[in-house]
Amino acid sequence: MPTADQATLDLLFRAARTHNAWLPKPVEDATLRAAYDLAKFGATSANMSPLRVVFVKSAAAKEKLKPALHEGNLAKTMAAPVTAILGMDIRFYEKLPQLFPQVDAKAWFKDLPENILETMALRNSSLQGAYFMLAARAVGLDCGPMSGFDNAKVDAAFFAGTTIKSNFICNLGYGDPAKLYPRNPRLTFEEACRVE
Ligand SMILES: Cc1cc2nc3c(=O)[nH]c(=O)nc-3n(C[C@H](O)[C@H](O)[C@H](O)COP(=O)(O)O)c2cc1C
Repeated sequence: MPTADQATLDLLFRAARTHNAWLPKPVEDATLRAAYDLAKFGATSANMSPLRVVFVKSAAAKEKLKPALHEGNLAKTMAAPVTAILGMDIRFYEKLPQLFPQVDAKAWFKDLPENILETMALRNSSLQGAYFMLAARAVGLDCGPMSGFDNAKVDAAFFAGTTIKSNFICNLGYGDPAKLYPRNPRLTFEEACRVE
């Protein structure tokens, strides 16, 4: 059975950290594309793939994002080479004829109440956001995920007139390892899991 080698496990998990300080090295658009082109293969319910991403890279786009950032996230986000807005399309079912063509999957979702659709979009776009972070690490980027921002302001600035809402944002770049805080502990298998 194939398994990842130790270096890959370090890259994706054991040595992967949440970064707050960035080296002065730009992120190529091709690298963002490479990360998305891996992340898109992660599983979602009925392949609904609700994730929609805006890569905030230009100074003008960063200025548009700025008023939505909580104070503690402001400086590091403005300094990051790229900030990804991980959004979710609440009308994800519109793309199911393309994404799940073997049955009329759109019919399963299109008449559901808004709050149920939003829960489904949140669950699946959060999974895709996590796939995206792992994919970004796999192509050599570092990540700084954040929920400390005003979602309504981000939605008004970047998703006005659409059915897309922001889920979380994530700084991307090449992190400065010298500026990392010590790693916090994680729950052990015994603390978090049981086998029945
Ligand atoms: C969804 C999400 C939201 C987060 N929001 C913030 C935030 O608003 N501000 C912040 O400084 N860190 C935020 N973090 C960073 C976490 O505190 C950090 O990922 C966690 O402590 C693990 O750190 P490590 O990856 O270096 O071990 C967030 C992380 C995630 C995954």
